[in-house]
Amino acid sequence: MHDQVSSWAKQLRNRPPQEVLHLAWQAFGRDAALSFSGAEDVALVAMAHEEGLKFPIFTLDTGRLPPATYRLLQAVMDKYAVSIDVFYPDPGALEPMVRQKGLFSFYQDGHGECCGIRKVAPLRRALAGRRAWLTGQRRDQSPTRQDIPEVHVDTSFSRPNQPLVKFNPLASWSLTQVWTYLRAAQVPVNELHHQGYVSIGCEPCTRALAPGEHERQARWWWEQETHRECGLHGAGNPSELPASLRSGVQR
Ligand code: ADX
Ligand code: SF4
Repeated sequence: MHDQVSSWAKQLRNRPPQEVLHLAWQAFGRDAALSFSGAEDVALVAMAHEEGLKFPIFTLDTGRLPPATYRLLQAVMDKYAVSIDVFYPDPGALEPMVRQKGLFSFYQDGHGECCGIRKVAPLRRALAGRRAWLTGQRRDQSPTRQDIPEVHVDTSFSRPNQPLVKFNPLASWSLTQVWTYLRAAQVPVNELHHQGYVSIGCEPCTRALAPGEHERQARWWWEQETHRECGLHGAGNPSELPASLRSGVQR
């Protein structure tokens, strides 16, 4: 599988997202699941719909999403007549953490623990039994993503006898290209984008951008730039950090 994926990565480098989606569909069909969260994912759902590729779609409801994100989820389900499977955190892990540390502990000791319970563990369940995963990651989204290929083997969520192939169909696209597509396709978008929000995650960990700020500064802004991954990506992406940012990163 690794050789096959390397060959696909060469073939798909900087190719249009639709071509990446088609290859994922031909190779994995409904064993490939599309994770849904923000604007990039709406673009992928719209493209898959246009191309007749019926990937299953899922989202991770952390319990801390802005109300506008729930409205977006429903609008997308309605527009494309698709279901988006919602995965929730395990109460057995979440309740003790909140009891012990309160609801905003991430501002004191970092987002790792909360994201681990609210996002990463549910993602593991969402990907169980899947052979491939499609995400809306882009190379220009963050310094931690500047090396991501259109396809690679995910090293965080693969299982011993079952590699998980991760497709990033929008890897070569810029934020501008995403928005040009979204406007042309007239798709539903998160209302918060009209209030200065660019990258949108959980409400307490997302803010609107000031003019001139990079989109990643909207997320976990109180932490170092190199820590602004929540465990969905980062460690599972290849060469996730450029050398200039590697020093001081805790693993
Ligand atoms: S995050 O790791 O920092 O939260 P980001 O918001 O940039 O990720 O989104 C990148 C991709 O990760 C999305 O296109 C989507 O595929 C996936 N993703 C992020 N958050 C979620 C979520 N709550 N549910 C499902 N997928 C998500
Ligand atoms: Fe918790 Fe913030 Fe991570 Fe959401 S983004 S899971 S609220 S630390």
